[in-house]
Amino acid sequence: MRKVIIAGNWKMNLTPSQGVALVNELKPLVANADCDVVVCVPATDIYAVGEAIKGSNIKIGAENVHFAESGAYTGEISADMLLELGVEYVIIGHSERRQYFGETDETVNKRTLTALKKGLIPIVCVGETLEERESGITEKVLKRQIEIGLEGVEDLTKLVVAYEPVWAIGTGKTATAEQANETIGFIRKTLAEKFCPVCASQVRIQYGGSMKPGNAKELMAQEEIDGGLIGGAALKANDFAGIVNYNK
Ligand code: 13P
Repeated sequence: MRKVIIAGNWKMNLTPSQGVALVNELKPLVANADCDVVVCVPATDIYAVGEAIKGSNIKIGAENVHFAESGAYTGEISADMLLELGVEYVIIGHSERRQYFGETDETVNKRTLTALKKGLIPIVCVGETLEERESGITEKVLKRQIEIGLEGVEDLTKLVVAYEPVWAIGTGKTATAEQANETIGFIRKTLAEKFCPVCASQVRIQYGGSMKPGNAKELMAQEEIDGGLIGGAALKANDFAGIVNYNK
């Protein structure tokens, strides 16, 4: 049985005080959740939000991590820095980082291996663009992202994969539940071939892209979908809680 994981990705939104206000509102709303509840927040918010969620069932994640242990990497943040603030999860290779900040499958791989070595749980993002889907190369793109991005991973079950079709992010266009299920099934099959069928059957794979309370139940009913990575709807306590409590 794979435990469902619903994670918010706040992206570049909410100051520390706004983040604290959001989680304070969220805490009672998700207190009875039977899934893992995570908020991945801007680096500047980690300390304050981390203090605010103490004693609750909400876990904290970061939105990126550098692959080096430490050193001359102005503006970057290391795994140790995150760990000292109680961070447990880290998003790696989000399509926005690939699109705007030069992230590649190779840098995704380096960050993933470092995060795993340090004991952070990577949420490794994969997904095709609209152009790639329309030209029929979705599977080829996903296979490449997995082959390179997860090269050298020793224990697949220590990470989470997020399938986020780029065309569904922030656009209001969700993949249909069947489409998402089928593509995540393909990802699981690729993982089974690269790693092993048993570990592929244990790894959690989230769907991300315009997920909201209104479509969460249908998406979550799909066999292959083990959770969600939520952008816009994670910025409102009621909406995020509505997704967390999709089965209530
Ligand atoms: P939206 O939920 O705003 O479409 O964003 C999805 C996403 O990118 C989560 O990482």
